[in-house]
Amino acid sequence: MPENRLTNDDLEKMVDTNDEWIRTRTGIKERRILKDEDKATAFMGTQAAKEILEQRDISAEEIDLIILATVTPDYLFPATACLIQKNLGAENAYGFDLSAACSGFLYALTTGANMIESGRARKVLVIGADKMSSIIDYTDRSTCILFGDGAGAVLLEASDDETGIIDYIHKTEGDTDLALYQPAGGSLNPSSNDTVSDRLHFVKQDGRTVFKKATVGMADVSAEIMERNNLTADDVAWLVPHQANLRIIDATANRMGLDNDKVMVNIDKYGNTTAATIPLCLYDWKDELENGDNLILASFGGGYTWGSIYLKWGMN
Ligand SMILES: CC(C)(COP(=O)(O)OP(=O)(O)OC[C@H]1O[C@@H](n2cnc3c(N)ncnc32)[C@H](O)[C@@H]1OP(=O)(O)O)[C@@H](O)C(=O)NCCC(=O)NCCS
Repeated sequence: MPENRLTNDDLEKMVDTNDEWIRTRTGIKERRILKDEDKATAFMGTQAAKEILEQRDISAEEIDLIILATVTPDYLFPATACLIQKNLGAENAYGFDLSAACSGFLYALTTGANMIESGRARKVLVIGADKMSSIIDYTDRSTCILFGDGAGAVLLEASDDETGIIDYIHKTEGDTDLALYQPAGGSLNPSSNDTVSDRLHFVKQDGRTVFKKATVGMADVSAEIMERNNLTADDVAWLVPHQANLRIIDATANRMGLDNDKVMVNIDKYGNTTAATIPLCLYDWKDELENGDNLILASFGGGYTWGSIYLKWGMN
């Protein structure tokens, strides 16, 4: 996480909002912002990856594949995963970026796990990183209160017991009404003086529409994955939800029949860091996770993309 904090009090001085509204409607108190002008998503992703390699005492040369989930790559191309590969000195790895907004980490995780299961890769780095402050309009109170910057990473390896990813549900429904998108900078609306002056390089969101879809979507896939794996609330050790809004997280936990003490929530500290929310939860709770714990990961985001993963934690 970047050091710099952007609190609700700070936002009160920038747009017409207040701490009480933000806390009660979203659960957010502060977010982190990467201020250094010469640093972006590759930097944060590299830091997260380096920490995990040090922790496992593994050299970067052992990595076969790097998958980076992000919607804020350093450049449109080359892929930011390539920059991270170079920063790490992961000479034997190939890498690519995966764009699925807030569900990017879930999609990347199952893609990496499938590469391990097929035997094509032995060590896969899956990173979720976003510098949301680079595409947020700090004059738009409906979006600037929600997002923050950050990165998280996991290292996937084969297990020889019953731990790992047991099941997943991934869904997509094209958001052709564009309720959540960044209008310019792509091939349809390339950057021009007009796109800049019209502020089209920033996130636009119809919050109410997305909220309704997210509440139903995330709860549905979380309940469905429990049901089809015969899991009761007692069997689930942790819900690891995407952190977009505390009310969406609560609705999902309620639907699953889970008490609050089984739900990872750090939205108060970081806001919505898009692809980084789920690995950041795993990081913050890593000392409490035990071998064999049943985890349900769940997300909903732009695209629309959503999904859940049932995994059995494989280390102490
Ligand atoms: C953005 C979000 C927090 C807004 O909360 P909400 O309860 O839906 O609020 P609404 O948009 O209905 O706005 C309610 C009122 O608060 C006002 N408001 C909006 N933003 C505000 C802010 N930052 N501060 C104060 N008031 C604000 C609105 O203008 C509106 O006023 P009105 O009733 O006079 O018209 C919520 O819709 C949300 O979380 N959406 C989904 C986000 C998400 O999951 N994204 C997908 C993954 S990235």
